[in-house]
Amino acid sequence: MADSKTHHHSETPSLSNYWMPFTANRQFKSNPRMLAHAEGMYYKDTAGRPILDGTAGLWCCNAGHGRKEISEAVSKQIHEMDYAPSFQMGHPLAFELAERLAQISPEGLNKAFFTNSGSESVDSALKIALTYHRANGEATRTRFIGRELGYHGVGFGGISVGGIGNNRKTFNQQLLQGVDHLPHTLDMQENAFCRGMPKTGAEKAEVLEQLVALHGAENIAAVIVEPMSGSAGVILPPEGYLQKLRDITKKYGILLIFDEVITGFGRVGDAFASQRWGVTPDMITTAKALNNGAIPMGAVLIDDAIYDTCMQGPENAIELFHGYTYSGHPVAAAAAIATLNIYENEKLFERSRELEGYFEDAVHSLKGLPNVIDIRNTGLVGGIQFAPSDKGVGKRGFGIFEHCFANGTLVRATGDIIAISPPLIIDKQQVDTIINTLSDAISAVG
Ligand SMILES: Cc1ncc(COP(=O)(O)O)c(C=O)c1O
Repeated sequence: MADSKTHHHSETPSLSNYWMPFTANRQFKSNPRMLAHAEGMYYKDTAGRPILDGTAGLWCCNAGHGRKEISEAVSKQIHEMDYAPSFQMGHPLAFELAERLAQISPEGLNKAFFTNSGSESVDSALKIALTYHRANGEATRTRFIGRELGYHGVGFGGISVGGIGNNRKTFNQQLLQGVDHLPHTLDMQENAFCRGMPKTGAEKAEVLEQLVALHGAENIAAVIVEPMSGSAGVILPPEGYLQKLRDITKKYGILLIFDEVITGFGRVGDAFASQRWGVTPDMITTAKALNNGAIPMGAVLIDDAIYDTCMQGPENAIELFHGYTYSGHPVAAAAAIATLNIYENEKLFERSRELEGYFEDAVHSLKGLPNVIDIRNTGLVGGIQFAPSDKGVGKRGFGIFEHCFANGTLVRATGDIIAISPPLIIDKQQVDTIINTLSDAISAVG
């Protein structure tokens, strides 16, 4: 008995104790892919083999890896003050970060509420929407509208408004009540191999009018969508679609939330997709690249009018019954400020916009390879969709991912879609390397 609990400190830990998230645990543990080091555009695995990062980690590390500015800021802050309570107490860095975010956020979204992940940002935004309507004298506005194929993290709120079947099925009986879904905007019949935004499909936003007619605007709190769906496999909004959502939500007093956990911080060629695509929502959820993935952190950016409406009660009353022990954590905030400095000093949002033409051509050069049925792109994001193989859905995508990894490039597979979303510091030669490795993998896997 005692023996089995003996502590080992070996170079290679047992793989048996860690239940890995969103992972085929048994498959992984029989053939692990372990990363141990990261610098610039490259990871190294535990054997010291370099691996080109085609995914910015998990859409996080937009400034590339091993940034000294960030690690030094973290180290300095953890020495100075490791932690400060977040309820009824403050520390300057959280306020400074909120101010910095207001400087780059779309007009009017000048308030920041801090969280520790994208999932928490989503749940926070939904709760803020309910709090706002109640404070505004419209407590019947409680329904949420998400979208098919949407990914909003894994909290019960997030999976309820989310639209990915596998993430919901097991939990079906316990999802939030009063949620509807707009149709997704993927239409390969009409738009396969389209570069950038599809020209057709904006009318899918008009389904919102039907939901308003069905439930009554007075019962609807908010619509939440990713401006571009990342996790479901890089699904772009048709031209005019987001503006239609904005027009309809505005007309009926419904809040519009953009989940920019992936699209925020330069991924699509501006600070936020909202700015790049010229549509301003009432709230934006963020996480990931907010501090380059260095320390868990997220933020909800909120329109002044929402905040002001919630600030009406007695001055000693808590206005929002919601928050996290680690909201605005000093070390995470220090990492975020250092990250925003890098984005600004190195003009990385502009860089992603400058590179997007080259990136687009590179990604679309994969057209014509075996089983490639669609290629989608925007900013520094590409999605390549494959016909499922006879062996089952997702097998081909996973095989291509494994082949790329074996050949020194990290890409991401979701089902039979490969997504690439490199750090914004990538150069053209590295774009070519990703595409060449992918091309070889696609041909090899067949
Ligand atoms: C759009 C979107 N929202 C929310 C999340 C959830 O973020 P987290 O995994 O940090 O909870 C993600 C993660 O990929 C995301 O892409």
